Amino acid sequence: MARLGVNVDHVATLRQARGTDYPDPVRAAEISVKLGVSCVTVHLREDRRHIQDVDVRRIRAIRGCRLNLEMAPAEEMIQIAFKTRPDQVTLVPERREELTTEGGLDVSAKPEFFKILNKRFRGKGIPVSLFVDPETAQIEASAQTGAEAVELNTAEYSEAKTKKDSAVALAKVKKAARLAKSLGLAVHAGHGLNYDNVGPVAAIKILEELNIGHSVVSRAVFDGFAPSVREMMRLIKSAGKGKR
Ligand code: PXP
Repeated sequence: MARLGVNVDHVATLRQARGTDYPDPVRAAEISVKLGVSCVTVHLREDRRHIQDVDVRRIRAIRGCRLNLEMAPAEEMIQIAFKTRPDQVTLVPERREELTTEGGLDVSAKPEFFKILNKRFRGKGIPVSLFVDPETAQIEASAQTGAEAVELNTAEYSEAKTKKDSAVALAKVKKAARLAKSLGLAVHAGHGLNYDNVGPVAAIKILEELNIGHSVVSRAVFDGFAPSVREMMRLIKSAGKGKR
């Protein structure tokens, strides 16, 4: 069964909107850990639009919290990761003007760059997951870099407007997952997953981790954070058992 990685970025988005010190993403991380989620994910963006450096340090200090640090493959972030020592880094492409991460890394265009980077992280004992689109070329290139995992971008699946498009996008995720697994990579997935669309993805047995944020924090506005996390855990668990 896939584990849930709760992404708490958008708790910080709400805080940054008013420059207050609430709501606190660290509290969201603490609640998640108490509920037994497998990991807490934060994306420390270069423009610091939501999560701040101090959030990462405080979440790192939560006992029993497995921290997945999402970051651009930029030297500033690499140095922060070396200091903070997350349990895993997920490398993502970043553009300042984007609303959220758009598309996966182009690993096949720069395999040497990622090979060297992965070696540096391995030297520090930090496993690397590469966020890539579910495409054969990207998966094959990722395997050659020595990364431990790939996170398959589910944006195309999540944003599909018709059943047919959704089925086509889901088939791509499944095919990419099988290929990644056969090449020795751990397989994660995420982006745009919500309470309505998570089931078919969570039912893909190969997947080890699903990183989900926006839908959980959005639901929390009305239902509360803990019930929203619990419900997402329930959906993933029941999909993993083959029933919803
Ligand atoms: N995985 C990656 C690599 C991401 O960049 C994001 C967004 O920060 C997520 C998962 C979570 O996406 P969402 O907030 O749409 O659930």
